[in-house]
Amino acid sequence: MKRTLLFAPLLALAAPMPALAGAAPPVATHEAAPDVQFSRLWLGSAWYPEQWPEERWADDLRLMKGHGANVVRIGEFAWSRMEPREGEYDMSWLVRAVRLAAKYDIKVVIGTPTDTPPAWMSQKYPDILRVTSDGDRVGHGGRRQFSISSPRYRQFCRDIVSRMVKALGHEPNVIGWQIGNEYTEESYGPAARQAWHDWLKAKYGTLDRLNEVWTTAYWSQTYTAWDQVPFNDDKNNPGLMLDLKRFITGQWVDFQKNQLDVIRAGADSDQFITTNLGGLGWANRFDRYAINRDLDFASWDDYVGQGHLKPYRNGATHDLVRGWKRKNFWVMETQPGFVNWAPVSNILHPGETRAMAWQAVGHGADGVLYWQWRNALNGQETMHGSVIGPGGEPLPIYDEIKRIGEDFAKTSDALAGTGPVSPVAILQDYDSRWAIDFQKHHKDYDQIEVLLDYYRPLKDELGAVDIVEAAGPLDKYKLVVAPDLNIITDAMAKHLAGYVRGGGHLILGPRSGLKDAFNRLHLQRQPGPLADLLGGRVEQFYALDEPVAVGGGEAKIWAEDLSVKTPGAKVLLRYGKANGWIDGHPAAIERKVGKGSITYVGALIDDTLMASLMGKAMDEAGVRPDFAVPDDVELMTRRGEGRRIVILINHGRDARSVSLPASMRDLLNGGDVSAVQLEPEGVAVLERPEGK
Ligand code: GLA
Ligand code: GLA
Repeated sequence: MKRTLLFAPLLALAAPMPALAGAAPPVATHEAAPDVQFSRLWLGSAWYPEQWPEERWADDLRLMKGHGANVVRIGEFAWSRMEPREGEYDMSWLVRAVRLAAKYDIKVVIGTPTDTPPAWMSQKYPDILRVTSDGDRVGHGGRRQFSISSPRYRQFCRDIVSRMVKALGHEPNVIGWQIGNEYTEESYGPAARQAWHDWLKAKYGTLDRLNEVWTTAYWSQTYTAWDQVPFNDDKNNPGLMLDLKRFITGQWVDFQKNQLDVIRAGADSDQFITTNLGGLGWANRFDRYAINRDLDFASWDDYVGQGHLKPYRNGATHDLVRGWKRKNFWVMETQPGFVNWAPVSNILHPGETRAMAWQAVGHGADGVLYWQWRNALNGQETMHGSVIGPGGEPLPIYDEIKRIGEDFAKTSDALAGTGPVSPVAILQDYDSRWAIDFQKHHKDYDQIEVLLDYYRPLKDELGAVDIVEAAGPLDKYKLVVAPDLNIITDAMAKHLAGYVRGGGHLILGPRSGLKDAFNRLHLQRQPGPLADLLGGRVEQFYALDEPVAVGGGEAKIWAEDLSVKTPGAKVLLRYGKANGWIDGHPAAIERKVGKGSITYVGALIDDTLMASLMGKAMDEAGVRPDFAVPDDVELMTRRGEGRRIVILINHGRDARSVSLPASMRDLLNGGDVSAVQLEPEGVAVLERPEGK
């Protein structure tokens, strides 16, 4: 659905605003989520006007406009410029920057500066500073030195955000807000410690209950007072460790909500709220579904670092991010050629930056912003890639970004309101990610790689694959794969069984259903509460030091010994010559349940075997493959009212030609085509009416 920007009447600018600073966060009044963020393709960068003389700003904006930018992000590290001394605010420069950008028809996303509190605050109120798990207080000069749990820091955040909202919340050229920047470390100071113990008390009520579910009879862990419960990130009881992750998630959610409530209450409802989650997408310091719940849409920072784009992994990361809110998203930062933080911060291939932008769009991004516009003359990141140089002139990458600007201008109308739609979902669950990581049992057991093993053959056949939260709705999917669902609570079992009984096809990977909600072993063997539905179970799991034969192929790292308990369950894969314990035993079993089915795959199998397993699963689930493309070419589709957009990228080093199943409109070059030729890093964007 397309929507145009609603501009607040100019009069509103002059109207008196209620004073918000210092007040308790007002109740949110926000109604429907605004969708300006999806109304067109957005292109731009992170700009730091506070680092440059104001006379220079117009030149920057002119050059941005020159490459086709229509958005810029500002403000996210500028606290010491917004509040140079305690209680002394200056938002006028921000307003001037926003209004100058309007002259160039460049919209603005405002970053709240809470990633970098000013030096006066660190000096006067050291209790706002983060304390590491070892008990050290972090000092000034870097960033992320604040404590997310400090009540005083949260108050300061409310105050500065209130001032910003007052200045910019009705500014027509501001389209949205980014809260903080790349949430990372939690704090282990006294306020956080108290909050942890309060959180446990609220969750369990009594220590008896906590002692029971954590099984603290183990190693004299039994607690007789709440403040005995350890608070650090050391290895500990897995029950404690899982709860700690949930607690930390809650601290981040609260930290974010503290600012979000102020923006919702004070800003125009058309101004969106998001945050840029970094950490290459898969980071799991906290639960990212929970973080995104309060936001209008998800954003992430897509960096390659060393080497070159890994199309499957990066594409899957986009899909993960799209799944956080189950809608389109933004790439709030990406590298203009190279970074400064990789062991080797090499430049991408010519054309690769453009291919990355198109991969993002192909997977559902409606915004792509470069970090950063121009290098500061000093500061920790002077060596990072940028769009223009320190002298203010375009760098070699500028022309490639200009080409992206031209591409976006040609395709934006057709893409607006479209998004990837898939009949297949891969499930992701942070509890399970944590549980396996706490007790890996095999150093090479990498859950993201396991997920990608399933993802690749599905992606090869389909223009889109969803990656979504395991606990969320599944009914629109024909096939659902849960590669790593280690924790299966009774509620989760009910949810998944309901999906299968409703005609869905569910595939569980190894280690599924070993643990319960408290990260305790289930009494029932894997997959625990789903074993009865499966009509089979795992007799034992084995970490493999050597590959073993399975189904004519090979399993590595992990193999579980399965058994069939019901005549209706059938063996899909068997081990061959193995470790003596599992030879000839089932490695994968399947049971039909009405029109649906449940499958358990107990081993990490090779790519060929996986491709045939997924091919068969798609067949049985009635998932039809999309049209075939040559190796190295990625096919992505977005659908919208009555039309389908096909995006093709050649990620390889050789030219490829792709024949299309029907004639399509070539949006980049014009005309109708039935085949396209793609040079390395080449991109095609095609449109055809839906259903043809
Ligand atoms: C040692 C300890 C035991 C147990 C085993 C596990 O032997 O004494 O308590 O931890 O290792 O292998
Ligand atoms: C992250 C941060 C940016 C910048 C870039 C550098 O994405 O959000 O502020 O440090 O990394 O790659």
